[in-house]
Amino acid sequence: MLVLGIETSCDETGVAVYDSKKGLLSNELYSQIKLHQEHGGVVPELASRDHVKRLSPLLEQALKNADCSLEDLDLIAYTAGPGLKGCLLVGSTFARSLAYILEKPSTAINHIEAHLLAPLMENPNLDFPFVGLLISGGHTMLLSANELGTYNLLGTTLDDAIGEAFDKTAKLMGLEYPGGPQIERIAKNGRDHYNFPRPLSDKKNCDFSFSGLKTHIVHTWKASEQSEQVQSDIASELQRTAADCLVSRLENALSSQKSDTVIVSGGVSANSFIRQKLTEYCSSKDVNIFFPSKEFCTDNGAMIAHAGYLKKQANQLCDLQGEVKARWPL
Ligand code: KG4
Ligand code: ZN
Repeated sequence: MLVLGIETSCDETGVAVYDSKKGLLSNELYSQIKLHQEHGGVVPELASRDHVKRLSPLLEQALKNADCSLEDLDLIAYTAGPGLKGCLLVGSTFARSLAYILEKPSTAINHIEAHLLAPLMENPNLDFPFVGLLISGGHTMLLSANELGTYNLLGTTLDDAIGEAFDKTAKLMGLEYPGGPQIERIAKNGRDHYNFPRPLSDKKNCDFSFSGLKTHIVHTWKASEQSEQVQSDIASELQRTAADCLVSRLENALSSQKSDTVIVSGGVSANSFIRQKLTEYCSSKDVNIFFPSKEFCTDNGAMIAHAGYLKKQANQLCDLQGEVKARWPL
C-alpha cells in the first residue's frame, strides 16, 4: 500500500510517500524559518500563503524520489489539526482535491497522534501499549496509549508548551527563531551557574507548567549583564530545568501506569540533553524508551503518511468533510 502524507499545520510544508512493505520512500520538507525569522515567530497568514506555493513542487519531488506516480497511490493522508487554521485548510483542500480527482480515499490525521506514532515507523517491533510523552512547540502532554486510537490523557501543560519556553527564552535573549536549536547550541558553553525553580515538582501528578519559569528567566536576564556567557548559562539551566520537569512527570506517570515502554516525540525531543536525561532515567528503571530519529522529531510529512497507513490498517480512516480543527484533543 502506498500512502501520500501531507503536513501543513504550522511553518513546515511536508510531503512524503510511505510504502507498507518498503517503508519510507520519500520525504520532502520545506521549512519556512527564513520567512518568519524577521518577525521572531510564525505569522499565520504568511505561513498559509507559503504552503500554497510549496505543495505542488514538493508533491512532484516526493513522487519522483519515490519513483511512483499519482495513480499508484492508495491513500492520501493529511494533517487536519491541531494547528493554524489557515495552514490546515491549505493542506486539507489540496489533499482532498487530489483524492477526489484521483478517485482515491483520503483521511484526516491528528498531528499529535502522528508525532506519537513516528517512532513506530523506524522500530517495526515497537507496539502498544506505551506511555507517550509529547513535547513540542504547541503541546506538552503525557498519555497512556493502549491501542491505536485509544489514548488516555495523564497530564498536560497548565499554560505554555515546553517548546514555547525554549522559543521565548531565545527571543528574549535576541537569538533567532526557532529558539530550541539555538538554545541547544549555546547551552554547550553554559556553566552550572543558575538554579531555576522546578515548576510543580511538589505535585505528584503529570501536569506541567512553564509560564512561571519564563517569568523567572525574564527577571534573570534583565538583572544580568546580558553577555554571551549569560546567554549560555541561562540556556544550559533551561535545559536542565526542562529535563528535570520531564523526568519527574514521567516518573509520576510510570508509577500509575506500570508500563515498560515509553515513547517521546515532538520537536523538543530532538534536544540531545533531554534525550540523554530521559534515557538515563528510563534505563535506571528498566523501562524501554524510544525517540524518533532527529529528522522525524519536528514536523514532517513522513509521520503523516505513516499514521495514515496505520489508520487504514486499523479501519480508522477519518472523513472530516473538509473541516479542519485548530484544536483537536486526542
Ligand atoms: O513538533 P514541532 O516541529 O511543532 C509542533 O508541533 O509544535 O516542534 C517545534 C518546537 C519548537 O518550539 C522548537 O523550538 C522546538 O520544537 N525544538 C527544540 C529543538 N528543536 C526543535 N527544542 C529544544 N531543542 C531542540 N534541539
Ligand atoms: Zn508538531
